[in-house]
Amino acid sequence: MDSSPTWWILGAGALGRLFAARLTTTLSLHLIGRHPAGAPLHYHALSSECSSVDVARTTLSALASKAHVRPSLVMLATKSYATLTAVEELAAHVAPQTPLLSLQNGFSIQPRLAELWAGPVLCASTTEAAYVEGDTGVVHAGKGTTWVGDLDNAWPTLARDCVYWLEKAGFSAYHDTAIVQRLWHKLAINAAINPLVARYRIRNGQLRDRPFRRMVDAVIDEIGSLLEEEGVVPPQAGWHTLVWEVIVATANNRASMLQDVLAGRSTERDAILGPLLAAAKRQRRYAPTLETLYHDTPS
Ligand SMILES: NC(=O)c1ccc[n+]([C@@H]2O[C@H](COP(=O)([O-])OP(=O)(O)OC[C@H]3O[C@@H](n4cnc5c(N)ncnc54)[C@H](OP(=O)(O)O)[C@@H]3O)[C@@H](O)[C@H]2O)c1
Repeated sequence: MDSSPTWWILGAGALGRLFAARLTTTLSLHLIGRHPAGAPLHYHALSSECSSVDVARTTLSALASKAHVRPSLVMLATKSYATLTAVEELAAHVAPQTPLLSLQNGFSIQPRLAELWAGPVLCASTTEAAYVEGDTGVVHAGKGTTWVGDLDNAWPTLARDCVYWLEKAGFSAYHDTAIVQRLWHKLAINAAINPLVARYRIRNGQLRDRPFRRMVDAVIDEIGSLLEEEGVVPPQAGWHTLVWEVIVATANNRASMLQDVLAGRSTERDAILGPLLAAAKRQRRYAPTLETLYHDTPS
């Protein structure tokens, strides 16, 4: 195993900062934002302890003059809708075979990256939770697990190598040979929760109340049958249990889509609901609840 590879993280938002703060202790790490930013990062751990972490924060143009720091892997930590542009910008600065690791939610950018990028494209599904605080802070809001794999299972050694470095940095991580299934399951959870809480501006737990409970169940019914028709294996406990367990576990949370709507930012609507509507179209089926959700959610 390479004793100290160089990784870049493209996107210095919540997840980018979280992974950077921990990975910088075990490998050579560059956190790339759109604008120059000074180190250190203020990292608020789950224990509420805050520490200053010296992370090499930079921009792609600043890295252009440093040919010796080419990465052996680039983690993509942009929002789904910003990822293609970010990767186009990245392409001028790295070897075409450089492996990418997509951290995006949904199931829209992953197949597109796999199609257009010449090198390996790994995908992660993570339940880690983080949010930014000011220009330099990141709060680790929830401990999770990160699964890594690729859509065709063509890069198992690379995926295991990646997991090794994530674990070494203190993350709970696993290689997943069925990452496609896991991404769809996470999408199902996000699709059943995020657009509704964003539309009604409520915390996740309020979905248990009337009239929202019926709305959630109707969305789950549509998602489950669309995904099964696409060949996605249903979760062992069923779609309803999968979603309701997350609602209970995150009852006090404001979902990221709600935070985006409240802050007037773009949402990941297309990455989360888009693939379901595309599945409905492929299957020539009407998905009225999902259609309505899509139209009621800002893009
Ligand atoms: N946060 C979480 O807890 C969490 C958990 C699981 C999965 N995810 C997924 O992870 C992805 C990232 O989420 P996030 O919460 O970290 O988002 P975020 O806080 O909005 O961070 C995204 C970052 O990407 C930057 N960016 C956009 N375009 C760029 C470009 N061309 N070059 C360089 N940087 C660029 C943005 O910069 P500006 O600030 O300049 O726009 C922003 O700092 C999403 O798909 C999300 O669904 C997040």
